[in-house]
Amino acid sequence: MPKYFLIGNWKSQGSTEEIHKFLSTIIRLSLPEHVRPVLCPPFVYLDLVKKRLPIGYSLGAQTCGIETKGAFTGEITASMLQDIGCGYVLIGHAERKESLEVLEQQMERAWEANLVPIFCLGEEAPSAWYSLAKKISYLSSLPASAPFYIAYEPIWAIGGKTPPSCGYLTQAFQYLKSHLKFTQGFIYGGGVRPENLKEILDLNIFNGILIGQASFQHAIWTMLLEILEIHGKVQSKTTLR
Ligand code: PGA
Repeated sequence: MPKYFLIGNWKSQGSTEEIHKFLSTIIRLSLPEHVRPVLCPPFVYLDLVKKRLPIGYSLGAQTCGIETKGAFTGEITASMLQDIGCGYVLIGHAERKESLEVLEQQMERAWEANLVPIFCLGEEAPSAWYSLAKKISYLSSLPASAPFYIAYEPIWAIGGKTPPSCGYLTQAFQYLKSHLKFTQGFIYGGGVRPENLKEILDLNIFNGILIGQASFQHAIWTMLLEILEIHGKVQSKTTLR
């Protein structure tokens, strides 16, 4: 079974104490074999998280700079992120409101540093597909050899408690898939919670999920893993039949 991403984008949350608490809880949880969790803490805590990262987990950054190195006060480069143990980097999260020009440079820096970019994109309002046009045109111009994942996050669903309907998600997925042939996979984000995760899994179209602030609550993280475990067992039984 291919690995299923469980990405926790902590955003601007956490303190040394809270992170220790979170990690000492999740380290005791069993990790379903088919799940690849990626924790994306704020920059300043990446090293702390890396040192206590449970086995099977990966580290991701929430963004990266557009420069390689030099006189750029305050910038964090992609190679620094790779150096301290990141494997992934989110590019273009809606909350950052960066221009496509910036995102293109971040993608280049990520590849140069051997980070796998997770490119975020989502329509501004329900069915506003035109708002994706520029990003889609950029992504579809990339060579097949450039690895990246898409985090499909409808902007209007981010931070809410419910994702769009299953019918809507299927339509969005088909639309994206028809335009973006060379991506490594599609991850869904926006309103994913333990209460609705099963519905998304049952669609069987995404290669993972991305969860915002709620992912930093250990009770929620525990429930997400439990649901993924049950779903994985059901899936492998069905494939064995
Ligand atoms: P959410 O955030 O899970 O709170 O909707 C997702 C995100 O912003 O990446």
